[in-house]
Amino acid sequence: MGTIHSFFVCKFAASFTFFESKPMADLKYKRILLKLSGESLMGSQKFGITAEMLQHYALQIRELVELGIEVAIVIGGGNIYRGIQAEKSGIERVQGDYMGMLATVINGMALQSALESVKVDTRLISAIEMKEIAEPYIRRRATRHLEKGRVIIFVAGTGSPYFTTDSAAALRANEINADVILKGTRVDGVYTADPEKDPNAKKFDKVTFTKVIAMGLNVMDMTAFTLCQENNLPIIVFDINKKDNLIKIVHGERVGTLVEG
Ligand code: GTP
Repeated sequence: MGTIHSFFVCKFAASFTFFESKPMADLKYKRILLKLSGESLMGSQKFGITAEMLQHYALQIRELVELGIEVAIVIGGGNIYRGIQAEKSGIERVQGDYMGMLATVINGMALQSALESVKVDTRLISAIEMKEIAEPYIRRRATRHLEKGRVIIFVAGTGSPYFTTDSAAALRANEINADVILKGTRVDGVYTADPEKDPNAKKFDKVTFTKVIAMGLNVMDMTAFTLCQENNLPIIVFDINKKDNLIKIVHGERVGTLVEG
């Protein structure tokens, strides 16, 4: 009886293991770079960070990690400060850009705490050295963190003025050999015109890099965009606020707009 019982326990365990590992085979992307804008942390506020949004992202990112996806994140800082606005307030552009980079560090620290509160292992990596709060960026070390299942959060942009956090996303995604950039926005893809202004705007399910440039579509700034185009790195623009979009994307479901070749 004991033997039969253990036989069934073993069978059950074996099928359970099989079931557990099965989703890996279904995954379209193994290593992703998620670009989150600073504004995405504001929720319904006009400024700053809301606990609700942090929790929303942390739980979705945890689901990806549980599937075995390697997740790198680049976060923006526009909910706190935008370099481009600086000149209006009499602040030199370069100075403003550095202020914007510091804003991304604040957001990254908040996201790191939110991820840790849901038991996701993280490493915060800064392009500007600030050893007391973040690791410096070392490419091989960053990829090792990913291999060990840690979520890495890249902050301080590229560390240089005149580059946006989209450029940081494109640069880091290429450096770590990400399979795709997932650009989370509040619209659900790339449209022929701004869907918030033009009711006739039509959404693309899929569009080539060349067409984006020819039509002057707004996906990312040109520096970021050409870096992806030259290295043939696909970008998916999608609505980050819709729960389960991230999970659907990594399973290969058509969500948002795919920009590729
Ligand atoms: P392994 O070597 O793979 O075990 O990686 P690890 O990140 O766990 O080891 P390490 O001993 O390098 O780091 C331990 C902790 O210190 C982690 O939370 C790191 O993020 C953090 N850490 C490492 N280097 C720095 C740094 O230069 N500055 C700051 N602020 N934290 C760091």
